[in-house]
Amino acid sequence: MKALVLAGGAGTRLRPLTHTGAKQLVPVANRPVLFYVVDNLVDAGVCDIGVIVSPETGAEIKRALGDGSRFGVKFTYILQDKPAGLAHAVATARPFLGDDDFVMYLGDNLIGMSIREMVRAFAEDASLGASVMLKEVPNPSAFGVAEVDNRGEVISLVEKPKEPRSNLALVGIYLFRKTIFEAISRIKPSPRGELEITDAINQLIVDRHRVRFSRLDKWWLDTGKKDDMLLANDTVLDDWLKGSIEGEVDDKSVCSGRVRVGKGTRIERSIIRGPVVIGENAHICDARIEPFTAIGDGVTLLRSTVAHSVIMEGTSIVDIERIADSLIGKRVVVRRGSSRDRTLSLMIGDDCVIELSRE
Ligand code: G1P
Repeated sequence: MKALVLAGGAGTRLRPLTHTGAKQLVPVANRPVLFYVVDNLVDAGVCDIGVIVSPETGAEIKRALGDGSRFGVKFTYILQDKPAGLAHAVATARPFLGDDDFVMYLGDNLIGMSIREMVRAFAEDASLGASVMLKEVPNPSAFGVAEVDNRGEVISLVEKPKEPRSNLALVGIYLFRKTIFEAISRIKPSPRGELEITDAINQLIVDRHRVRFSRLDKWWLDTGKKDDMLLANDTVLDDWLKGSIEGEVDDKSVCSGRVRVGKGTRIERSIIRGPVVIGENAHICDARIEPFTAIGDGVTLLRSTVAHSVIMEGTSIVDIERIADSLIGKRVVVRRGSSRDRTLSLMIGDDCVIELSRE
């Protein structure tokens, strides 16, 4: 069994963070979403992994993942030169996939469940043409939607229907055999101009292949927007964070609950209430960090309080009374200025949101 991880795409829903980086590398609890994808494949015993990249963010993805040795896997990078759809990506990867069965995994999908059982069941039942993962959602029109029977099989699939026939959305994890290539060759681009994998799976069903589904009964996090990102962070910190202190915490500081502090980080005269993760080489001084916060590598936090937020690498926050429910990108400076009136002095990039207190 091989895997095909899709790590291309523009990430428009997560601007401004994705102006300068790939959406699959946005950190959740200080690790790129893509790393959790690789963990899940490794857990299912899949180690030969093709990674689809785009011309815009391919170099950054390669730098983050490397050759795979740190995960115990082998990565083969495959360039998709235009965003022509998920099925187009699969067709592009044919030379890598050959005639093998494979897991296709969208690189921005984060789920709270192992795919081991789904992979095993597919490998053992040669009569299946494909297998998909479904989850009940309140807004099915935003996804591929499945109609299913009561024997665990999919009857039909529609991509982003205006009038969905069910509330079962396609989670971005699929299992295929080489028959998918024939199906892809028979579909046409959708109204959004892409070759949709949803249409290709539907074609498999029309051609009388059996398509089974697994239900995702744990969480599924879409890291599409600020609140989704914060929720993803909360969930991962809550479910997976293990406390460990590798940096230095002075005896005037208090860490309570699960707190992880990376190497080279110094914490002085501060209070930290977990679950909180702090990366490497950060400096936290006379500060307070409240639960469900992720602080990236090299962050400086002085005389400030941060609660329920994601602060990415290289950012500094100085003399700020309290920041809460915030998502702050890399190398940002937030500090109190010298002006005595109520003037704000800002340098802010495109697509940012600044919410000030009413007072
Ligand atoms: C894609 C698929 C859709 C699926 C979704 C899951 O949509 O086309 O069927 O439900 O991923 O994340 P996209 O993110 O390209 O809009």
